[in-house]
Amino acid sequence: MPAYFETDDGRSISGAGRALLVGVEIREEQSLFSVEDSLDELALLAQTAGVEVVGRVIQRLSRPDPATFIGSGKVGEVVTLLGETGAAMVIFDDELSPRHQRELEKAFGEDVQVLDRSALILDIFAQHAQTREGALQVELAQYEYRLPRLTRQWTHLARQAGGGAARGGAGGVGLRGPGETQLEVDRREIRRKILKLKEELEQVRAHRQRHRNQRSRAGMPTVALVGYTNAGKSTLLNALSGADVYVADQLFATLDPTTRRVKLPSGRVVLLTDTVGFIQKLPVTLAAAFRATLEEVAEADVILHVVDASHPRALDHIDVVEDTLAEIDATRVPEVLVLNKRDRVTANLDLDVSALGYRDAVSVSALKKTGLQELLAAIGVVLSESMVEIEQFVSYRDGDLISSLYDHGVVLGEEHIEGGIKIKARVPVWLASRLGQLD
Ligand code: GTP
Repeated sequence: MPAYFETDDGRSISGAGRALLVGVEIREEQSLFSVEDSLDELALLAQTAGVEVVGRVIQRLSRPDPATFIGSGKVGEVVTLLGETGAAMVIFDDELSPRHQRELEKAFGEDVQVLDRSALILDIFAQHAQTREGALQVELAQYEYRLPRLTRQWTHLARQAGGGAARGGAGGVGLRGPGETQLEVDRREIRRKILKLKEELEQVRAHRQRHRNQRSRAGMPTVALVGYTNAGKSTLLNALSGADVYVADQLFATLDPTTRRVKLPSGRVVLLTDTVGFIQKLPVTLAAAFRATLEEVAEADVILHVVDASHPRALDHIDVVEDTLAEIDATRVPEVLVLNKRDRVTANLDLDVSALGYRDAVSVSALKKTGLQELLAAIGVVLSESMVEIEQFVSYRDGDLISSLYDHGVVLGEEHIEGGIKIKARVPVWLASRLGQLD
């Protein structure tokens, strides 16, 4: 699927040819990944977007240069490398401010595209979004990323109206009001687009919420697969459910939630949902756009945290995922750590799981389909253990709460008293906490 996002000057990133990568390590700044490791990941992202990486430049600084992000000597080095390699694109590993972007474009010349990690990730997401909600979320993130960076005349909407990036129907470029510059008109147009996208997203989400409610009425517990990008979530979903979900050795191959039924050894059926992969330095606008999708993870009954245990940075990947789970308040959901790709794990890469503090960890190979029965059994155990018993009076007016109790819990007894029901039930931990039954 072609990218429908274009950079500020209207050129598409995908298939754009050769690129140089630039990474900066800020001295005394704590970061999970070394600059080299982060550039390795950036190279994978570039490859996923169809770009060939032909060189890397690294600089260690005490703080970024306010104008050009890297120092003037490094700018000169990049210019020389551009000449030597024939690259037409420079990708920075950190998010550039609008000013950095402008100054760097001036320094490198107008034939060279200047991008940052965020723009690249946004482009990959745009290529991979399959559902309407996914596409809308990415489009919203792209416009929000673009708004403060708009520097020159934006011919984009005029050319694309009715298709491509203007999928939602841009309705053409607005007329210039008295005293308004073209730039102001363009900004106004983007703001209008953002509002429209938000409204559309609301509608799509409301529709999906209705479906979700119907599904959970069927009383099946939900299990959410989360993990760093490329950990093997889709492969695991396929292996466990026999489903045919798109699997690729690419970053962010899956963007939209996919749900499948899976039977546990006890005979209990659960709904297994695959979600978007996590990554360090996820663009802020994208994280915000995908928040609603991610927040559903916080309502799951169990989280399966899939790790590529053969990856040298596996422990850092685990940290990124745990940080994201904390941000979306999902830490109360019981978690099973799934150490995937065990067929590739060598003795010296073996993770010391006990040191990680996970009580429930299972080692599997989603590809070779080994360890799956143990994993299913572990889900069953965690599910039954994680329910807590509560006794709660619920007013008849609180219909949503009553249905939540019946949908997600096992009701052990009920007594109709004035104005409502006193319910005794075993419910998932997240629901008990919502009811204020946990400290
Ligand atoms: P995103 O869509 O980026 O979030 O990725 P994902 O976590 O869904 O990963 P996916 O299932 O697409 O797998 C990524 C790559 O890892 C593919 O090339 C898979 O074939 C490979 N892979 C998955 N599981 C295993 C495994 O157990 N062993 C080995 N050797 N490779 C695996």
